[in-house]
Amino acid sequence: MSQTVGNPPLIGKPIERIDGRLKVTGGARYAAEFKRESVTYGVLVMSTIANGRIRTIDARAAEAQPGVLAVITHVNAPRVRFPERPQTVDDYVAPAFGRSLPVLQDDTIYFNGQPVAVVVAETLEQAEYAATLVRVAYDERKPVTSLEAEMARVFQPQEGLGKNSPTGRPADVVRGDPQALSKAEVVVDETYTIPIEHHNPMELLSTIAEWSGGKLTLHDKTQWVSNVQGYIALVFGIPEEDVQVICPFIGGAFGSSLRPWSHPVVAAMAARVVRRPVKLVVTRKQMFSSHGHRPYTVQRVALGASRDGRLTAIVHEGYAQTSLYEENTENLLNATRMLYASPNCITKYRLVRGNVQTPLYMRAPGECSGVFALDSAMDELAYKLKIDPLELRIRNHADKDLSNGLPWSSKSLLECYKQGAERFGWSRRTMEPRSMRNGRYLVGMGMATGTYPMYRFPSSARARIFSDGTAVVQSAASDMGPGTWTTMKIIGAEALALDLSRVRSELGDSTLPKAAVHGGSATTASVGSAVHEASLAARAKLLALASGDERSPLRGATEAQVSFANGRISLKSDSSRGETYSDILRRNRMESIEATVESKPGNEYEKFSMHAFAAHFVEVRVDPELGVLRVSRAVSVCGGGRIMNEQTARTQITGAVVGGLGMALTEETVMDHRMGRIVNSSLAEYHVPVNADIPQIEAFFVEERDDKVNPLGAKGIGEVGYVGVAAAVANAAYHATGKRIRQLPITLDKLL
Ligand code: MOS
Repeated sequence: MSQTVGNPPLIGKPIERIDGRLKVTGGARYAAEFKRESVTYGVLVMSTIANGRIRTIDARAAEAQPGVLAVITHVNAPRVRFPERPQTVDDYVAPAFGRSLPVLQDDTIYFNGQPVAVVVAETLEQAEYAATLVRVAYDERKPVTSLEAEMARVFQPQEGLGKNSPTGRPADVVRGDPQALSKAEVVVDETYTIPIEHHNPMELLSTIAEWSGGKLTLHDKTQWVSNVQGYIALVFGIPEEDVQVICPFIGGAFGSSLRPWSHPVVAAMAARVVRRPVKLVVTRKQMFSSHGHRPYTVQRVALGASRDGRLTAIVHEGYAQTSLYEENTENLLNATRMLYASPNCITKYRLVRGNVQTPLYMRAPGECSGVFALDSAMDELAYKLKIDPLELRIRNHADKDLSNGLPWSSKSLLECYKQGAERFGWSRRTMEPRSMRNGRYLVGMGMATGTYPMYRFPSSARARIFSDGTAVVQSAASDMGPGTWTTMKIIGAEALALDLSRVRSELGDSTLPKAAVHGGSATTASVGSAVHEASLAARAKLLALASGDERSPLRGATEAQVSFANGRISLKSDSSRGETYSDILRRNRMESIEATVESKPGNEYEKFSMHAFAAHFVEVRVDPELGVLRVSRAVSVCGGGRIMNEQTARTQITGAVVGGLGMALTEETVMDHRMGRIVNSSLAEYHVPVNADIPQIEAFFVEERDDKVNPLGAKGIGEVGYVGVAAAVANAAYHATGKRIRQLPITLDKLL
């Protein structure tokens, strides 16, 4: 890190998010809220069958309605070309391979709730009404939406997704003795099921598309403006520079906007047809099929151990559903290969196709689902061995990454366990199920381990220092809530040695330097590193300017001889000799000086295994007569490398725990397999936790200094806060009731 004598260190301090006030006062503008001159409104018409073909579409009644400008279907839509691979920026995070849904290009129906037409009208109400008049006749085939019913047709994914990803994802891995399970002294062998879950962010998917000449401007809700830009340019066959994607704020996403879905394509098509801007907002009901979901998964976990509680075998098989037209895979089994010190480990991953939208990463994808199964099984093993569940995890702590033999860049999981247990009061726990009570309620205490890899993706940033002594740091990054607006500013201010109030950040616009996906808890490591390096480069340019200047007191000075503080460069040997950034720029009649840097990982992935870890502790109270389970307390302790902003970091982990509680207790997308139709259509039928569901949640960080991961020492947090929470709740539910729930969510009917 830069030495900034004179400026109090900013990194790691609790600093209020700069977008907070904007968000609560309505000052933050979301995609659909931008005003465009003479805007029109698009409303999607969705398929009502899950499998088959469109025989005819009759749009005449809709077209005859007042205000209707166009009804666009596969018959009359502009022809576009969908790229073979939807992702364009890199191979690190490629959620899905295959051809993205060829929306409005042919008559094939892959899933229920697939867009089959868009109605464009002068007002939203006119478009909504006309959309109800579009008549579609289908040739229907029987839908296939049940994973269990299709187990005979499982297949191994063909594409190694995210093939440059440091954690990789080979489908099948055998480590050590493949027969180890059959030789184990004690065995647990169970199956765990996770339903489809939907991200259900507050903000709906939405796009405003506007053509001007051959150029397209999109206000689009996305976690990756650069990717939407590249994707739309490919689809419409126009140069990337002719597409601008703007998304300064995101009203929650949780992964749902990692890749462009159909709606920005449809909005851009419609805007081209009606020759006016088109606003297209996907409705809450349509959100259940317009973007991907956490896939339905069935997992078998078998653990073998010695009687003294050492793991001797792990077998983890995962079966996940994907769509008919793409293979979606996630890191379902990766954590199993590295989390505990079993010398023998077998993982096997299979997909099953169904008439569903392609799944997509959701809230710590893969790890979150996989660790629910693994850490539930660990709890089951603890009971079989009569060993405290925390003690079992400590005994099986992995001192290095057994999946690749690499040392950890840093790891403080044992300290997380220790601090978490103390803060939670784990020692008060009695082992026997149903042994703890509070009045009429059964009390349960459960814990689990969290883990998430440190990803760093190539990203660019620009730092510009102005002659008035202020600066701006810029990147085409996104901020869906973790605090990137604020973190970029903090990192920039620290590296530029300027007061926080003198530095602005800018993000969410594809005309800014290209950034990686806002996902995988990687934004600080990726974009933050770029901001850091660009800031150092900008101030080095400033020094070079002064150093080469006869008139400067710093003439001839090298980087090693000076210090930067409070917007001033001075000689270390004599701090009175120096000048301010403004002095240097003004004398040279320059309004600003800037540097743009692309920052990317080196070969550290080959030398170190880099992961964040956490310990989650949860207490539940269960009504023994009604089966109602309430979480009463949660404590999480996390080792996530160097923390950039203590305040937004803490709220990230507490927010993640809320998501974990939703996964554990309330969230379930229900499929009617007869119709192949998702039954949920609103937040009344898909229960995300509300305030009344949320107890006191405490999040703490173990201080980690990690100079291996990236220039900032930040591992990334957020997703590590989800992983393990559902298992901790399930384990607490077992402790309270003696009932082991292996099928999420843990609803009262299952506890009775
Ligand atoms: Mo996250 S599920 O990588 O947006």
